[in-house]
Amino acid sequence: MSGAAMVGLGVFRPRRVVGNDEICRVLDSTPEWIVRRTGISTRRFAQADETLAEMAATAGEKALADAGASPAEVDRVIIATMSHVGDDPVDLPSAVAARMGVRAPAVQVSAACSGFAVALRLAADAVTAGGARTALVIGVERMSDLLDPTDRSTAFIFSDGAGAVLVAASRRPQIGPAVMGGQPSLAEAITVRRRPELPDRGPVIRMQGPTVFRWALTELPGVVGQILDGAGLTAGEVDAFIPHQANLRIIDAVAQSTGLGGVVVARDIVEQANTSAASIPLAMERMRSSGQVKRGDLALLLGFGAGLSYAGLLATLP
Ligand code: COA
Repeated sequence: MSGAAMVGLGVFRPRRVVGNDEICRVLDSTPEWIVRRTGISTRRFAQADETLAEMAATAGEKALADAGASPAEVDRVIIATMSHVGDDPVDLPSAVAARMGVRAPAVQVSAACSGFAVALRLAADAVTAGGARTALVIGVERMSDLLDPTDRSTAFIFSDGAGAVLVAASRRPQIGPAVMGGQPSLAEAITVRRRPELPDRGPVIRMQGPTVFRWALTELPGVVGQILDGAGLTAGEVDAFIPHQANLRIIDAVAQSTGLGGVVVARDIVEQANTSAASIPLAMERMRSSGQVKRGDLALLLGFGAGLSYAGLLATLP
């Protein structure tokens, strides 16, 4: 065994579906504007019992079931999240592992919307190096905890959920090398911190939307090019493009400008909105359950967001 592969997939979508009309009861906007500027029609907001630990453990259990694996076979748990700021346990990864009956070491990666792709590569590294036979990667977010419902740049974009994949050793590497980087000079374009104007709130997300938009369209096509060149592939040889579900206009523009517009492109954002570190596995699951992709298809995964940062790689789908 000299490689790693995704062998199981599971997700958790919170029960409560929130339409643009509900958002616009508080926000100075219209449902049509939100659809036009972002593609988003609905999002999911987690309720009190749908904690980060609960959502992550449920998605993780489904990924194990999908792979036909048991908790005892998990050698690592890697959680990617940026919204672990509320009432959840201090040590979220251990709480998730405990809920699942997993006794292996569990850690947390904080790389915002790039988090899932970063964690996936870390999992593949651990398995390829022989330090673990399997690693469970879980992206989980309660972005609604960070939202100011009156903020015209963020209130309608973000959403809650979890997605998990089990990574296991494979004869042939099926998770490619990652292209990672970012633009630290734009670190203030997306922030999560306490706001003096909201003294009763915990940390709140703020975003310079047009700055993020411009950066994404300028930077990401080159990142996609590097990933494809590194593998010696053309865009047409990829089965699916599964970018972070930030904004439908960004997804479509990057797909078009890289030649990936001709392959199946993830558009989970329309119904699920932007779930940061959870968006790639959530999108993967919708594509698989709707028959757009199948196990073994080759996908280009691309995380990007706060940092500003990106992380992308090629991988065969579970
Ligand atoms: N509802 C209605 N109108 C709004 C609005 C809202 N929520 N927010 C801004 N506007 C208006 C502005 O007042 C402005 O009107 P004007 O032209 O009459 O002055 C106009 O829309 C354009 O404002 P701007 O701030 O330039 O908005 P935008 O077109 O850039 O759209 C975003 C805002 C947030 C949708 C857009 O910048 C975006 O999608 N950015 C990327 C965000 C993203 O993907 N983040 C995820 C990273 S992980």
